[in-house]
Amino acid sequence: MGSCGQIGFLFSNTKLFASFSLCRPFSSRRRPRPCTSDPHVDKSDSIEVHTNENKIASPFSSEYHSPVMWREVLEHLVTDTRGLYLDCTLGGGGHSEAILTRLEEPGGKVIALDQDPDALDFAGKRLEQEVGRGRFKALRANFRAATDVLLSEGLITPEAAAGTEPGPFSGILLDLGVSSHQLDVAARGFSFRGDGPLDMRMQGPMKPPTSTSSSSPPSALSAGDIVNTWEVGALSKVLRAYGEEPRAYKIARAIESSRPLKSTTELREVVAKCAPYAERPKVLARVFQGLRIAVNGEVEALEAILTQSTRLVRRGGRLVVLSYHSLEDRPVKRFLRAGNKEGRVERDFYGHEVSTWRAVARTSIRPKEDEVSMNPRARSVSMRVGERTELGEAQVRARVDALPTVTYTKPRQIPHMEKSESTIVSNNGDEMKARQEAGDRGDERRGRGKKGNADSEDSENEDNSTQKTE
Ligand SMILES: C[S@@+](CC[C@H](N)C(=O)[O-])C[C@H]1O[C@@H](n2cnc3c(N)ncnc32)[C@H](O)[C@@H]1O
Repeated sequence: MGSCGQIGFLFSNTKLFASFSLCRPFSSRRRPRPCTSDPHVDKSDSIEVHTNENKIASPFSSEYHSPVMWREVLEHLVTDTRGLYLDCTLGGGGHSEAILTRLEEPGGKVIALDQDPDALDFAGKRLEQEVGRGRFKALRANFRAATDVLLSEGLITPEAAAGTEPGPFSGILLDLGVSSHQLDVAARGFSFRGDGPLDMRMQGPMKPPTSTSSSSPPSALSAGDIVNTWEVGALSKVLRAYGEEPRAYKIARAIESSRPLKSTTELREVVAKCAPYAERPKVLARVFQGLRIAVNGEVEALEAILTQSTRLVRRGGRLVVLSYHSLEDRPVKRFLRAGNKEGRVERDFYGHEVSTWRAVARTSIRPKEDEVSMNPRARSVSMRVGERTELGEAQVRARVDALPTVTYTKPRQIPHMEKSESTIVSNNGDEMKARQEAGDRGDERRGRGKKGNADSEDSENEDNSTQKTE
């Protein structure tokens, strides 16, 4: 694993706040706030910043991106102000900066990942002071390789990476999808509103990664490759599965017969002809989303980071995920419900659910109306929060595996009595003693079980074969 690009920068919010304040009516102006990235200046209470649409977004907004649900993120993510946090989707650094305002020294730190060099450049400058103070570090990497990257940077131990000791992070944040900057720059090809090449690679084609950035290798695949070379069936599958576009096949056929398509404008024109006028914006959004997800392997990356988060987050730590469509939200919901990607709820011998994660809220958390009206991007966001339970992966396995291998000793015949005594021992050491009517073991097993002591420290070496006979 190669090392990842680190960042440095010039903090630019001063200019931002000053110019935005001029946009507001005089009566609503507040006293100028200190423009600083000083973590001890809490910007979260009153600063209002105007977006390009002259709407109030958040104190952590920038021309790069306006972080969504930042209040809720702080509330649910930061449970330890001296903890270490991992922001897997740095973008413009808005959420990272917000988290830093809540953290205290010593200990409070943020590590951030992004595969887009533009994000590293912008957020690196924005949080330069924090870099200098050793409170912030950004790495250019795809979060699907988070464990490898963190390990190679010495930020986690080999034991944590292997799951034999708890991970170091008090919380992980995933703010999925693309940034406003990525959509705004036509040359990136993410948006059907601008005219650009059919690219859509988050890691960017313009600045290929250095030879050391093997965690974020240049994607061989661009949107143009898919559009111009894939068979109609495969193209249609992408549009249907990742774009959830009902006219997928019709659009795929239209694309095929218009090849080669070179720009977002050309693609837009072909797609637009396949849908009634009023539906065109939605259809275009779905088609572009489907292509983007395929180009960047977003489904696989999400699955990978969810699985890795179990080892990276310490017991009691949090995972906060902001999703923008059901393809992102569904796997997160399943994972937090059950601790595995299939959403398979595991139970121990006594029928209790056992999982490495606990969903903090049963339903997703949605943004407040005022945020949606100020930041249109917040309209589709849905936030899920999970808390790491006390159980390690090995403990969950041991408890679940204990279920089918309960054994009974041969009943000891007691002279002149009809009852026999036996000891029932499950294979993770749980013990249940029961007096049974001979031949009526099943009833006893249901009625007299007592909770076992499987809360022992997580260990891959746990002896699961203990069987005691009395
Ligand atoms: C919605 S933006 C994050 C915005 C950020 N929270 C902020 O406050 O500015 C998503 C970012 O995640 C990055 N990203 C998406 N998928 C990624 C992946 N698999 N690995 C690394 N970065 C990824 C994108 O490049 C983009 O910059």
